[in-house]
Amino acid sequence: MSANDKYLEGKGALITGGASGFGRGAAYALAEKGADLVLVDINEELLEETSKKVAQKTGRKVVPILCDVSKSDQVKSMAKQAYEELDNIFVVFNNAGIADQSLRPITKVKEVDWDRLMDVNLKGQWLVMNSLLRKMKKQPFEPLAGKVICTSSLGAFTLSPVLPAYCISKVGVIAMAKIFAKELAPKITVNSILPGFHTTGIYLNSEDLIKTMMKAGNITLPLGRIGTVDDVVNLFMFLVSPASDYITGQYFIVGGGLHI
Ligand SMILES: NC(=O)c1ccc[n+]([C@@H]2O[C@H](COP(=O)([O-])OP(=O)(O)OC[C@H]3O[C@@H](n4cnc5c(N)ncnc54)[C@H](O)[C@@H]3O)[C@@H](O)[C@H]2O)c1
Repeated sequence: MSANDKYLEGKGALITGGASGFGRGAAYALAEKGADLVLVDINEELLEETSKKVAQKTGRKVVPILCDVSKSDQVKSMAKQAYEELDNIFVVFNNAGIADQSLRPITKVKEVDWDRLMDVNLKGQWLVMNSLLRKMKKQPFEPLAGKVICTSSLGAFTLSPVLPAYCISKVGVIAMAKIFAKELAPKITVNSILPGFHTTGIYLNSEDLIKTMMKAGNITLPLGRIGTVDDVVNLFMFLVSPASDYITGQYFIVGGGLHI
């Protein structure tokens, strides 16, 4: 298979958190491989802008759907609209997430912060999966009817004491992806990606902010640089490609050697 193969032609992909960061990077990469897209986000302005730019650059259909993934009624109508817009949803990038900005230890986390982190980062992914799976399973593709990639975090292993609810939500994502993988085999694969430190909206697109955080936590990266969006998108594209068809229920760390 050459690098230019449009192996996603005739296939649809849905990306949550598609307006920015990894979601946006994945949108360009999927569309370059021929996929039509639904981008889901709560940031209306950025969602419109990203959708237009991806469509213009790649010539693919790109449909923006405004939806808070933590709200089951919104997710239900988003899924309905997504299947009206696309013939199929072969790839789901279950990726929308928020950071924990309060930096409180586990004994001091506020209930409102705990709830929001769990609702968006964990429950949101579960709601999105359940809203799409029934139709995905029936899709006539061979050997797989679909592929799901969930964004967890290396925080699921580093378990930062000042990001407790965030880290716990991301441990939950790994577990959820494994349980779905068993449930959905052999039709659909489900894997998770665990990024380390990458310059995206979650860090206000600021390398300096990441450097300050790393310094405060005495963290160094063996590969000597902060991660990019492409570092994650490259792994993501392997997981959506036929090259990974025999892989399910696994997690993949992309962190520049952090936590070796
Ligand atoms: N950037 C990193 O270094 C890093 C590291 C580990 C994990 N992650 C994870 O990567 C994922 C993507 O984040 P990113 O780094 O690209 O940041 P980002 O902020 O650039 O992108 C996240 C997107 O999710 C959207 N979003 C937030 N809450 C939402 C909701 N309730 N419903 C729908 N959309 C919502 C945001 O509007 C934004 O467009 C997140 O799950 C994050 O936890 C990021």
